[in-house]
Amino acid sequence: MDTKIYQEVELVEAAHQIAEGQLVAFPTETVYGLGANALLEDSVRQVFEVKGRPSDNPLIVHVADFSQVEEYVDNFHPLTKKIVANFWPGPLTLIFFIKKASLPLVVTGGLSTAAFRMPDNKKTLEFIKLAGVPIVGPSANTSGKPSPTTAQHVYHDLKGKIAGILDDGATEIGVESTVLDISDPTKPPMILRPGAITKEALEAVLKTTVEVDRHLVEENEVPKSPGMKYKHYSPDTKVLMVRPDDWQAALKVSREKGLKIGILASPSVVSSWGNQAEASFSYQENTIEAATRGLFAGLRALDEGTDLDVILAEAFPEEGLGIAYMNRLKKAAAQNFFEK
Ligand code: TXA
Ligand code: MG
Repeated sequence: MDTKIYQEVELVEAAHQIAEGQLVAFPTETVYGLGANALLEDSVRQVFEVKGRPSDNPLIVHVADFSQVEEYVDNFHPLTKKIVANFWPGPLTLIFFIKKASLPLVVTGGLSTAAFRMPDNKKTLEFIKLAGVPIVGPSANTSGKPSPTTAQHVYHDLKGKIAGILDDGATEIGVESTVLDISDPTKPPMILRPGAITKEALEAVLKTTVEVDRHLVEENEVPKSPGMKYKHYSPDTKVLMVRPDDWQAALKVSREKGLKIGILASPSVVSSWGNQAEASFSYQENTIEAATRGLFAGLRALDEGTDLDVILAEAFPEEGLGIAYMNRLKKAAAQNFFEK
């Protein structure tokens, strides 16, 4: 199969192809998604095959209008309206109880709940409207690899396996949406996966406590979100996280071991230490936003370029957006920090 990069004028054709059952990758503000018509069981099954994704990991259903959610859900959490009004379209996925058997089992992984999201990307919202059906969309990468933040990343992983890709340049946020469980109307909302919409941002708007799944805080807890238990985002090269004061020591130890080193960090770090590494990938600015935007692209670039032995990656404080950045980086690094 030839994988097409659709031109602007071909949005209607792309929408027609996905409605008919083909797989089409689409841009969002977080990462690129691998789209399929959520109502066609065979197409959704192909999504799992193409990605090599475990079949018990349910998918997010992407919608362009809240009325699409109402077709599958009738028992809403009292905070739903407020959440949707403030955060959709945006990087926030909501978990609802669905009407029995209203979505194919492959979409929900057999759960009585399902995940919904309205992505903040004009092209994709138009695409979903034109398709006229809800669209499942896991990140459009081979399972286990860093999520794609450009159409080129998608092409690299999935060329020949999907009908086409809608290209809208590099994504703005760089990590996947926050997943918020509001399935039980009697319980407070709970964050199952950290993303750009933080606990603080939710609490400020909702004026109520938002909980965080214990496994995100404590290592031996089983995650409520099935996808969180899998090894993720891992390049083939070993990744070590480096705390702000440890760059000199981390480079010294790695050089003494004769390792070929890659650095993934902010411009300030790269300008100080880049000359001691074989390769470096610099985030665009010295901010957590720029780091989050560049994390997956940087892991891919360093992994695929020079044959490195180790990627030394900048650790950030675990607060605000830093929680989402560190959640993904820790997985890529199998939890390993450089220790003096
Ligand atoms: O930003 C994003 O969310 C991207 C873009 C493409 O929209 N999509 C994405 O999809 O990250 P995926 O499939 O890689 O991640 C979906 C997450 C997984 O952790 C999955 O376990 C969880 O959502 N999830 C899906 N349905 C769920 C449910 N009913 N209950 C709990 N977690 C669920
Ligand atoms: Mg993913």
